[in-house]
Amino acid sequence: MAAKLGSVLWWGAQQLYRSRWCAHWLFGVDFLPLEGTDHHFDITTIALVRRAAREVAPETRVIDLGTGSRAVIGLALWKRSGCRVTAVDVNSDVLALARANIEHNRAPIRTVESELFENVPEDFDLVVFNPPYVPTAQGLDRLSEARRSQWDGGLDGLDVVRRFLDALCTRTHPLRCCLGVNVLHVNHDAILEAIGGREALALVASSRHPVLPVRIYVCDKA
Ligand SMILES: C[S@@+](CC[C@H](N)C(=O)[O-])C[C@H]1O[C@@H](n2cnc3c(N)ncnc32)[C@H](O)[C@@H]1O
Repeated sequence: MAAKLGSVLWWGAQQLYRSRWCAHWLFGVDFLPLEGTDHHFDITTIALVRRAAREVAPETRVIDLGTGSRAVIGLALWKRSGCRVTAVDVNSDVLALARANIEHNRAPIRTVESELFENVPEDFDLVVFNPPYVPTAQGLDRLSEARRSQWDGGLDGLDVVRRFLDALCTRTHPLRCCLGVNVLHVNHDAILEAIGGREALALVASSRHPVLPVRIYVCDKA
């Protein structure tokens, strides 16, 4: 019974994530039609945009890391504040789709293909990241093999998160980060430990969305 309910909820969420109307209503930007099994957003996207919007002003230089096929976080923050966004993704196919959606919105957003910050030499003020965090074993039978870079977080879901935190520590300028994860997939204490174990990072806030099973971690690198 519980498994059946879980499947129904999962199916319903997928329909929501694929709805252009819903995406437009939530984020205030336009969305091109989807191809294949793609989606416009997930629940972490909603909570991240809500929290990161408090950090942006027109002059803020924002990296939308792991921008995905819609550049949804970067577009939503730009639309709200006019901030200066660079959209980054490791997956070239995904980034080509993001570029098309950025053009569709006539947004002044640059795109960069990069593994984390490897091809991002310039300073920035804020990085917003909805990383792949689904533990491999949980995603294999449900999620797309072709889009594995979008969900696969390794054994405990935190492989990419830990590499991201390491990469933040190597930046030579002060910055703030907003990192979002679905708490049904990853362990809160393990994330606190990962942040706390990196001297260069200071946790500013860790807040749970009032309704969604999503937690946002805000950290500063001095
Ligand atoms: C969960 S999706 C988030 C997509 C979109 N930002 C959103 O919130 O709906 C994670 C994205 O991060 C990208 N990604 C995964 N590993 C990455 C890495 N090491 N460097 C840059 N991007 C990465 C994936 O290709 C994917 O587009």
